This record gives sequence, structure tokens and C-alpha cells, in this order.
Amino acid sequence: MFKKVRQIAIAGGILFFSAGVMFSANTTFAKEYKYLGGAGCKCHMNKTTEGNEYKKVGYEEKVGHFNTFSRLKTDEERTNPECLSCHATALDKKIKKGKSKYGNFIENVTCEACHGPGDGYVKVKKNYKGKGKDAFSKLMKSDPLEARRAQFEAGGRIAGVNSPKTVKEQCLECHWEDPAAARKCPKTDKLFKFKEYFKIDDHRDQDHIDDVIAKLSAADKKKAQDEGIAANDPILYSPYKK
Ligand code: HEC
Ligand code: HEC
Ligand code: HEC
Repeated sequence: MFKKVRQIAIAGGILFFSAGVMFSANTTFAKEYKYLGGAGCKCHMNKTTEGNEYKKVGYEEKVGHFNTFSRLKTDEERTNPECLSCHATALDKKIKKGKSKYGNFIENVTCEACHGPGDGYVKVKKNYKGKGKDAFSKLMKSDPLEARRAQFEAGGRIAGVNSPKTVKEQCLECHWEDPAAARKCPKTDKLFKFKEYFKIDDHRDQDHIDDVIAKLSAADKKKAQDEGIAANDPILYSPYKK
């Protein structure tokens, strides 16, 4: 038993190494972490900390990802795994906080639907390397590349940066462009228009890491992309919203 586990670990290690892309291609680690529901993301939602990104872009009102569960009207729909796969988060995954009373999932398409389970990152943020509650904020200023690496190692996921998926591929987990798509919502015929929808959903803002990446040499930028800490998806070079 132990031997087998070790063999798998070694094989995994070789794969990992030979892939060259290192942890950018390795998102399986994220599955070991637990989901926290909205509670885990509250720093991002209030003015006093690093960003008011969501309030600023009117994320909640315009995109409606936070209201997707209210579309499900009957108990049958609210427990139907088909509907929940697109209208809810973390279906059948490990959930620490925010579980729905209807089953093992978090209601709505929340931050963690796209950014992965939050509990690893929250721990890093609260006590980075056991150095106390300000250590991570300091690291974000002194070495934002290392800070982003620490986020990712703690399970954080950003499509087009450290995820094997591009942003568009991530959207297409729940949206569809082709009226004849095999997987689509039975209740609407609305087609996904990537650029248009991304523009509405775009909640990036320019921060330390973007400034640092902008100043890297082409070779260093390529290296940061290979390591999964700089964007490798062209849509992410579209201008930031004002
Ligand atoms: C493949 C993902 C997916 C599945 C499966 C899915 N939905 Fe949806 N649903 C969506 C998306 C995406 C939208 C919004 C589309 C848009 O506005 O572009 C939506 C919209 C809706 C709407 C609003 C329709 C409107 O006219 O505004 C309702 C109601 C709805 N879904 C109910 C359901 C129910 C009930 C189920 C299960 C039987 C379900 N959905 C399954 C992705 C899905
Ligand atoms: C539908 C998927 C989706 C949802 C839901 C979502 N995001 Fe994002 N998020 C993205 C994408 C795509 C980007 C762009 C990646 C980038 O900027 O590098 C992004 C970028 C970000 C960034 C900037 C990251 C960086 O370093 O550039 C932060 C911070 C962020 N999201 C936090 C959140 C929070 C908090 C929530 C919930 C309130 C949330 N996101 C909900 C997809 C999503
Ligand atoms: C986990 C499933 C899921 C993912 C992933 C997802 N969406 Fe959605 N999205 C939905 C659902 C469900 C709705 C319907 C919201 C409603 O009206 O209830 C929706 C609605 C939207 C809307 C509002 C559309 C309208 O008709 O007004 C936009 C814009 C949007 N999504 C953008 C994106 C973008 C951009 C991405 C990729 C970065 C993305 N979504 C990824 C499930 C998802």
C-alpha cells in the first residue's frame, strides 16, 4: 500500500518535472483544500483592504453570478446536479463553510467557482510562514511575484495564469457559443459572446504584481509565464477598466 503510494508520488514527480511548466500545469493540489463560501473572500469585498474591485465594477448587479441559485425555483431543481453544476459552486467537493441546506454545494457561482477553494489561501494570508498577520501584506509589496506563487501553492487558481484552462475555456464550463452545444442550459437560448461577457465580468485591477510584471524583461516575463505567475492568455492583456 505504502509502496504503491510512493510509486505514484515518484511518477507524479517525474511528470511534474518533465512537464517543464511546473506548477502551472498542476492544479490537482487545489482539490485538497476546502471551500469557504462567501466568508472566505470578504477582504476583497470591503473598502478598507486591498480592493473594492467588485463594488467598483458593480459585479454583483451586472454579472449575476451571485444570483444564479435563485433561478432554480423548485426543490427538484435545487437538488438537480445538472442545474447545480452551472448554478452553484463546489458540488460534491469538501466544504468547510457556507454549505446549502439543499445539499453538498454552495449556492450561486461564487468566487471559489473560478478561483478554487479558499481555505489554504486564507491561512497563508493570516499567517504567512508563521510570521503573523501582516507578513503576507508585506510580501505583496516587497516581492509580489513570490506572493502570487504562495497564493497558488495554497490552492488559488486563476484561469489564463496558473490554470491549464484559458479564461474562455473556464467560461465555457457553464456557457456555450454554439446553439447545438451538447451541454447547455435547458431554460435559455442565450449564446455566450466571449469578449462582450468578459468585459462585463472583468474585475481585474492594476496592482503591484501587474506593475512588476510590466517591467520584466521579455525573458523574465516568459519565465514567469512558464511558472504560472504571469498571464499567458491574450485576453488578460486587454486594458484594465478605469
Ligand atoms: C451548462 C450550464 C447550465 C446548466 C446545466 C443549467 N444552466 Fe441555467 N443558465 C446557465 C447560464 C450560463 C445562464 C445564463 C445565460 C446567459 O444569460 O447568457 C442560465 C440561465 C438560466 C435561467 C434564466 C433564464 C432567463 O430567461 O433569463 C434559468 C431560469 C435557469 N438557467 C434555470 C436552470 C435550471 C432549472 C437548470 C436545470 C434543469 C439549469 N438552468 C441548468 C447555465 C446552465
Ligand atoms: C466566472 C469566473 C470568476 C468569478 C466568479 C470570479 N472571478 Fe476573479 N477572476 C476571474 C478571471 C478570469 C480573472 C482574470 C485573471 C487575471 O487578472 O489574471 C479574475 C481576476 C481576479 C483577481 C485579480 C487577480 C490577479 O492577480 O490578476 C482577483 C483578486 C479576483 N479575481 C478575485 C475574485 C473574487 C474575490 C471573486 C468573488 C467576489 C471573484 N474573483 C469571482 C474569474 C472569476
Ligand atoms: C460555474 C458556472 C459558470 C462559470 C464558470 C461562468 N459563468 Fe457566467 N453565468 C453563469 C450562470 C448560471 C449565469 C446566469 C446568471 C443569471 O442570470 O442567473 C451566468 C451569467 C453571466 C453573465 C450575465 C449574462 C447576462 O445575460 O446578462 C455574464 C456577463 C457572465 N456570466 C460572464 C462569464 C464569464 C466572462 C465567465 C468566464 C470568466 C463566466 N461567466 C463563467 C455561470 C457561470
